[in-house]
Amino acid sequence: MSRNKIALIGAGNIGGTMAHLCALKHLGDVVLYDVIDGLPQGKALDLQQSAPIENFDAEIVGTTKYDDIAGADVCIITAGIARKPGMSRDDLLGTNAKILTQVCDGIKKFAPKSFVIVITNPLDAMVGLVKQKTGFPKNQVVGQSGILDSSRYRTFIAQELKVSVASVSAMVMGGHGDDMVPVRSGCLVSGVPVEKFIPAQRLDEIEARVRNAGGEIVALLKTGSAFYSPASAAVRMAEAYLKDKKEILPCAAYLEGEYGVNGYYFGVPVMIGAGGVEKVIEVELSQREKQLFDVSLSHVKELVAAMERVQKA
Ligand code: APR
Repeated sequence: MSRNKIALIGAGNIGGTMAHLCALKHLGDVVLYDVIDGLPQGKALDLQQSAPIENFDAEIVGTTKYDDIAGADVCIITAGIARKPGMSRDDLLGTNAKILTQVCDGIKKFAPKSFVIVITNPLDAMVGLVKQKTGFPKNQVVGQSGILDSSRYRTFIAQELKVSVASVSAMVMGGHGDDMVPVRSGCLVSGVPVEKFIPAQRLDEIEARVRNAGGEIVALLKTGSAFYSPASAAVRMAEAYLKDKKEILPCAAYLEGEYGVNGYYFGVPVMIGAGGVEKVIEVELSQREKQLFDVSLSHVKELVAAMERVQKA
């Protein structure tokens, strides 16, 4: 039996961190691809030399040639530019759309059967672009957003209550923008609704912090955006696919009627297994959450329309 092969398109902060996580979790061989000659090769060599210490056998290859991703089981895309202070995720639109169009040519040619996970922002538009440009079916192309946003929600609730993060389950739905929807009605602390523990006004503040959590990190880093937690989120999705875990995770999935949404990628819970996105799970939302969901959806629609204008120009 041969090892799985994971291609990471973009060997920057998130790409490098994902390569490390894939190796530590024994998920398979890793190919790090980037357009900057030396960067993926250098990171790959460095990581490879940690193998005897960490006791992994995976091969880590760095490359600037797409043929090296041939036959990859999973491709995770971070290629593009990251946010700087003062920029929204949407400001990245034109540049990253051009970059992803090139990336899709490479994936289509060399890894046509791969499960494709998109991280590049603005996520909800970029993942739709990847589906369109590769022509892959909807179960084969997914966006990383909800796992990260939900992890931020769980982190802040656990910190507030001074309990283990393992005791908090929570989900964030909608677009990966400032109007994402933390689903308060589904946020549980050891099975008990969070509203029993934290007053509504304080929950409003925590949820506002969740929405701005990426921006908070950008403001601190100044030269880039979050990378440890986005990397963890995407690798979790890859693992669910490679191990056929049938795990239910919030992701940006292509909707055709679910939640009343048609023809857009949007953050909802899905089941990931060997068939990729095997199922979209429909959960009931409160009246207020539904309103927030609709606001977020209208923003994603505007974003997609803006991308289409940029592409025509
Ligand atoms: N093909 C492949 N890689 C490319 C291309 C391309 N056409 N153009 C740029 N890149 C590479 C850059 O050379 C860089 O190494 O993409 C990498 C991006 O890495 P970083 O700038 O470190 O950004 P990172 O923090 O990894 O985030 C990447 O994910 O969360 C999103 O908003 C974030 O869109 C950004 C992406």
